[in-house]
Amino acid sequence: KMFVDELQDMPRIKGYDVINGVHVPKSLKIGMYKKKWKFHRDLPASEVFAYGTSRHRATVPGPTIEAIYGVDSYIKWRNHLPSKHMLPWDPSIPIATTTFKKGIPTVVHLHGGIDEPQSDGHSEAWFTKHFKHHGPKWTKKTYHYHNYQHPGTMWYHDHAMGLTRVNILAGLMGAYIIQQPNVEGPLGLIYGEEYDRPLVVFDRGFRSDGSIYMNSTGNNPSIHPQWQPEYFGDAIIVNGKAWPYMNVKRRKYRFRIINASNARFFKFFFTNNMSFIHVASDSAYHESPVELHDLLLAPSEIADVIVDFSKSKSKSVILANDAAYPYPSGDPVNEENSKVMKFIINSDHEVQTGHIPHKLITYRPPDISTASNTRYIAFYEYASDIDEPTHLYINGKSYEAPVTEMPRVGTSEIWNIINLTEDNHPLHIHLGLFVALEQIELVNIEEFKGCMMKLNDAIKCKIDKYSHGKRTKVVIHEKGWKNVYKMMPGYVTKIFVKFSLIHSNESYPFDATAEPGYVYHCHILDHEDNVMMRPLKFVN
Ligand code: C2O
Ligand code: CU
Repeated sequence: KMFVDELQDMPRIKGYDVINGVHVPKSLKIGMYKKKWKFHRDLPASEVFAYGTSRHRATVPGPTIEAIYGVDSYIKWRNHLPSKHMLPWDPSIPIATTTFKKGIPTVVHLHGGIDEPQSDGHSEAWFTKHFKHHGPKWTKKTYHYHNYQHPGTMWYHDHAMGLTRVNILAGLMGAYIIQQPNVEGPLGLIYGEEYDRPLVVFDRGFRSDGSIYMNSTGNNPSIHPQWQPEYFGDAIIVNGKAWPYMNVKRRKYRFRIINASNARFFKFFFTNNMSFIHVASDSAYHESPVELHDLLLAPSEIADVIVDFSKSKSKSVILANDAAYPYPSGDPVNEENSKVMKFIINSDHEVQTGHIPHKLITYRPPDISTASNTRYIAFYEYASDIDEPTHLYINGKSYEAPVTEMPRVGTSEIWNIINLTEDNHPLHIHLGLFVALEQIELVNIEEFKGCMMKLNDAIKCKIDKYSHGKRTKVVIHEKGWKNVYKMMPGYVTKIFVKFSLIHSNESYPFDATAEPGYVYHCHILDHEDNVMMRPLKFVN
């Protein structure tokens, strides 16, 4: 039955202390625990992996961490997980380790964070229980977050090589917010209180005994016994409850909606046609708010929106979804996965309903003439003779192939992302922020693809001859600085990537050229794991 569990607010943890009215750095300890979690009133508790300050306090999603701009947070991420994974992982893809004798490998990435390489949660910097075993790129036990970046919403999640999809499926994710009171305060936006709520949304399947269900036979069992190209579940979970309800007042609320699904895109809308006032996309504010009636979010994208329930003509409203899966040409939504949650609106009239400013924050727009390099990044899907995907690559290269993307710190670049597959892939770049400029359809794509499959070189394959089809403009609420963007199938997407801060002329407060470097990848987790991911290394 839908709408029987109340929406929860995850525990909030402050990543700073206040001494004599001054914000000062703080050190936190957050563990990963195996425990039982109730996703629904009528479903037996499920075994999950959860983040928390203790096993008892651990939740799915994990606690919401609130940091203050410019005040360092130190987090000791501790792995307390057993040596048996509850979900079917696959030893045939590049994986942290196939012997889990010393525990399950994990590593935490702060998604959207501008952080030093040693604290960025590199896929090969994984570690097991009590650090008994760790990956080749592991460097330190305590992560240092400078929080020296524009204010906004991020999320932290597991990133272990070849295990990201199963570790996140098991519950390892949570919200992280950087607040900058002297910049955000004057905007008068709803902020950091009862009416400002992160919504971490994902899809899951369950067995009737409560256990999380993931198909354990791959589509190509002779090649990959367990790996599947996309995970989908029919139950839609918000803040750890399946199809919850929330009692709201007749006023404005702010929701920071994070799509934490492995592969599901959401196209959110309200059944009574209420609108979303979009104030930020991923981690960065817009220049001014944008009113929308639907909202398409790829895996790992974030929409920061204001919803005004005083405008509702009905007493309750359902937040619904109608994105096909896989997106855009897969199955249409069904009765289960088309519903997200329900809002029940209190009939009392509110006096203070909250404010929406006309202007938000202006960052410098991309200056294309400053780009110091142009790259072509092609997405491929390889299929077996039974025409099922076997793996996905970037530029035809395995993850282990020597690093090819070596930008200079402080510069900007143009990346042309060429999507030769039939699916939309959300590209995420660590460290850099980018602006999507335009999307151009490829003509004679089969011919071009044939050449690319052989040469893996867009210039040699004469990309200019093929990239002159339909042009799709970037929609207004996605024109700002993003850390993920949806790469349309059969299109070249041109982005301007900046490897420096967007809110200041200063340089990064750390050495971005240090080991172990960074990565960039598709954020469909099943693709990322097999292996639509490449290293990203910075030079001076
Ligand atoms: Cu949200 Cu590299 O990840
Ligand atoms: Cu992908």
